[in-house]
Amino acid sequence: MLLIAIIILSSNFEECIARRGKHWRHNREELASLLKKKGKSHGNGHNHNGGGGTKSKVSPPQKSTPSPSPILPPPPQDDSPSTSPPQTKIGGSSTTFNVLDFGAKGDGKSDDTKAFEATWAEACKVEASTMLIPADYTFYVGPIVFAGPYCKPRIFFQVDGTIIAPTNSNAWGRGLLQWLDFTKLVGFTIQGNGIIDGRGSVWWQDTQYNDPLDDQEKLLFPSNNTIVSPPMQIESSLGGKMPGIKPTAIRFYGSINPTVTGITIQNSPQCHLKFDNCNGVMVHDVTISSPGDSPNTDGIHLQNSRDVLIYKSTLACGDDCISIQTGCSNVYVHNVDCGPGHGISIGGLGKDNTRACVSNITVRDVNMHNTMNGVRIKTWQGGSGSVQGVLFSNIQVTEVQFPIVIDQFYCDKRNCKNQTAAVSLTGINYEGIKGTYTVKPVHFACSDSLPCVDVSLTSVELQPVQEKYHLYDPFCWETYGELKTTTVPPIDCLQMGKPPNNRIQTAHDLC
Ligand SMILES: *[C@@H]1O[C@H](CO)[C@@H](O)[C@H](O)[C@H]1NC(C)=O
Ligand SMILES: *[C@@H]1O[C@H](CO)[C@@H](O)[C@H](O)[C@H]1NC(C)=O
Ligand SMILES: *[C@@H]1O[C@H](CO)[C@@H](O)[C@H](O)[C@H]1NC(C)=O
Repeated sequence: MLLIAIIILSSNFEECIARRGKHWRHNREELASLLKKKGKSHGNGHNHNGGGGTKSKVSPPQKSTPSPSPILPPPPQDDSPSTSPPQTKIGGSSTTFNVLDFGAKGDGKSDDTKAFEATWAEACKVEASTMLIPADYTFYVGPIVFAGPYCKPRIFFQVDGTIIAPTNSNAWGRGLLQWLDFTKLVGFTIQGNGIIDGRGSVWWQDTQYNDPLDDQEKLLFPSNNTIVSPPMQIESSLGGKMPGIKPTAIRFYGSINPTVTGITIQNSPQCHLKFDNCNGVMVHDVTISSPGDSPNTDGIHLQNSRDVLIYKSTLACGDDCISIQTGCSNVYVHNVDCGPGHGISIGGLGKDNTRACVSNITVRDVNMHNTMNGVRIKTWQGGSGSVQGVLFSNIQVTEVQFPIVIDQFYCDKRNCKNQTAAVSLTGINYEGIKGTYTVKPVHFACSDSLPCVDVSLTSVELQPVQEKYHLYDPFCWETYGELKTTTVPPIDCLQMGKPPNNRIQTAHDLC
């Protein structure tokens, strides 16, 4: 049965590749021909010096190692057995490719990008192989795409050492969206107890002005007349000019059953760990860490992904600990520690009049401390689609500014016009949300034209703690549902039952 499931899954995957693969296949061909040309200009074939008379200093560890292919794994037909790359057999089945055997120095200064690419090119060819980043070394590595469409399944990326990102602007060209990019892989696992360090502080200072502030900040008013400095201090840009586009540290794209476990990901320039177009995502026993004032550094970011399981992880960052975006369904998050950060958020959805679909999201047994929000759903005016079936359960909050938030008027610092269209929200359940807040316990701001429906609250107990900000009572606007138990404080503003019939979802909003 497992086999059948795998076959079905992989055939779906092929379909997915076939459908959306046009441009990257095109890219692939382009790159392949590029590489061929490059190969030719360096003299053909098995030149031991890697290019007749050129100044290539870094010689590969073995005479016959193929010239490193920067992005592309070898095509599947090409199983030329002419080379025997360094590898270690462990036991009978798994093969390990150590980056040190491919010329990586691991001294934290030498550029080990090429060595990583060469290692990957070999690991890619062997099912269930391991690409080893050994302990006690620090590898300086530029942006890499670990492109998997022709790789064997179930490869392990074993991070026991430390991987650090370049902090000089040259390494990033005019800006890249990803640093370590894993695409089109099947059953791929990043594991180990090593560290992946984006060394993002050089980016945080420079691009402050371009980054949207979190909308919730407009609700903060100092509790006395002293002027409270904004949470994110703008510093003069001392470092070199980094590109305006900031990279995500680790991204998975178009992959089936990717797993990330054990590692620490820290100080990403932007988002730490992103999954886009993935099925069967698993993240557990992971630590993510960046300062609370590092702008836009989401912990884990999900979009267009299904069947996601995140648990036993510690997330501290400058933006959402977990951000769930459009196209996500069947997401289960539990036993996560979040803070500092902006909490766990669904959205912002529906930006620029887009359609957003999110369903079946469960977040439970979460500890939040000193975060801006606890659990939040945010949508932009003018969007369409829906959020359906959300459960936030057993969320312990400690000195959280806004423990419970629905904001259908989300807007960054641009001016946003009022629009009637909205992403509809139905079946949003809160149970066991307990602890302390520092600004407002409950903020439900729903659309005038499309109210929030079936919002239920059970065992909500939130106590105020006076810190720097003015304290507010619970707020509700166009929010319908049920109080299943009494709450602390009382949430009288929730409207019982359903909204009037004339304001229901239209077919346009259905996902
Ligand atoms: C909802 O998601 C959970 C995983 O969190 C899954 O087990 C369940 O089958 C999903 N329900 C539906 C109706 O798809
Ligand atoms: C938009 O709508 C809100 C809520 O109904 C209202 O308070 C606000 O004044 C409106 N803004 C504009 C620009 O019309
Ligand atoms: C008001 O401002 C003073 C001076 O900065 C500060 O010491 C005090 O803690 C503030 N009070 C509150 C309630 O935040």
